[in-house]
Amino acid sequence: MEYKIGLIRGDGIGPEIVTEAVKVLDAVAEKYGHKFNYEEILMGGCSIDACGEPLTEEAIEAAKGSDAVLMGSIGGNTATSPWYKLPPNKRPEAGLLGIRKALNLFANLRPAYLYPELREACPLREDIIGDGFDMMIMRELTGGLYFGERKTEEVDGVMTATDTLTYTEKEIRRITVKAFDIAMKRRKKVTSVDKANVLDSSRLWRKVVEEAAKDYPEVKYEHMLVDNAAMQLVKDPKQFDVILTENMFGDILSDEASMVTGSIGMLSSASLNETKFGLYEPSGGSAPDIAGKGIANPIATILSAAMMLRYSFDLDKEADAIEEAVKQVLKDGYRTIDIMPQEEEKKNTVKQVGTKEMGDLIAERV
Ligand code: IPM
Ligand code: MG
Repeated sequence: MEYKIGLIRGDGIGPEIVTEAVKVLDAVAEKYGHKFNYEEILMGGCSIDACGEPLTEEAIEAAKGSDAVLMGSIGGNTATSPWYKLPPNKRPEAGLLGIRKALNLFANLRPAYLYPELREACPLREDIIGDGFDMMIMRELTGGLYFGERKTEEVDGVMTATDTLTYTEKEIRRITVKAFDIAMKRRKKVTSVDKANVLDSSRLWRKVVEEAAKDYPEVKYEHMLVDNAAMQLVKDPKQFDVILTENMFGDILSDEASMVTGSIGMLSSASLNETKFGLYEPSGGSAPDIAGKGIANPIATILSAAMMLRYSFDLDKEADAIEEAVKQVLKDGYRTIDIMPQEEEKKNTVKQVGTKEMGDLIAERV
């Protein structure tokens, strides 16, 4: 089959890690007889530098014209980069929020999985890790505080800032349905996270989740308050299968979940709409401090490419091949610096490699 893939290399380590994912995709194409055509799309800081804005109409059209988009990361050092002297709606992150909204990418899937080979990287105690954990964070991505009305103004001589958290029933229902659909393919458990003891938007969230759950009698579901969820993620992460939550809570909990797996450099993500289209990107950021050094971990981007094959192209066998190749590389003892064991005596049981070498090793094993 032939597919058109939009490539947003972006800023910081983005270009380096996307190059490795493309290398792996090309290995898949060759082995399984597909053709992937790539179209470069500018977004974020590099688009500000080239076009004066983080996301142009042309970029949106190019993304819409692709079967799926693979992205590296966007943004720079918020303290030193000139991009952060611009008004908020002209900064790199505005490009990311803009493309999510323009393409209606309301469902953000962030798997957090502990690789058995990387147990040493997990900061939790052995008894808490147990047999490991495997959860999927389903974050609503186009509503809530991120997209509500906001303003900063002087009220009675006092500077006052306002952000608004709005959700419609429809917005809650469509992400809930996606979460339950995904739970059906996993361990059939959904934990819906909210702050219903305080927020109206959360009380509506609960009501809609309860209604939607009636169509999924096989799925066990529960509600959990977000503060408790933050605690349970480190106390007993094994209890979670699918975590369903709104935009801001999902932003925070997904970083926490990734940290308990030991390395954000390992975690992929998918942002989907109601069609087969998706935007796939690593969960981590642009890491400007290590950009260009050739040491960034490309695995999250490579695994995001695998998610793209699975969710947008229905190429399950090919996606499995990438995931297996990643597991094999870890078994064979290769590590980028972020997933090297901390203890001195364990360091010589594995071999440290850079970004490009890691890409080569995975591509060879596809
Ligand atoms: C993420 C990021 C973004 C978000 C930022 C860069 C706007 O943290 O994808 O989690 O908050 O959604
Ligand atoms: Mg985030």
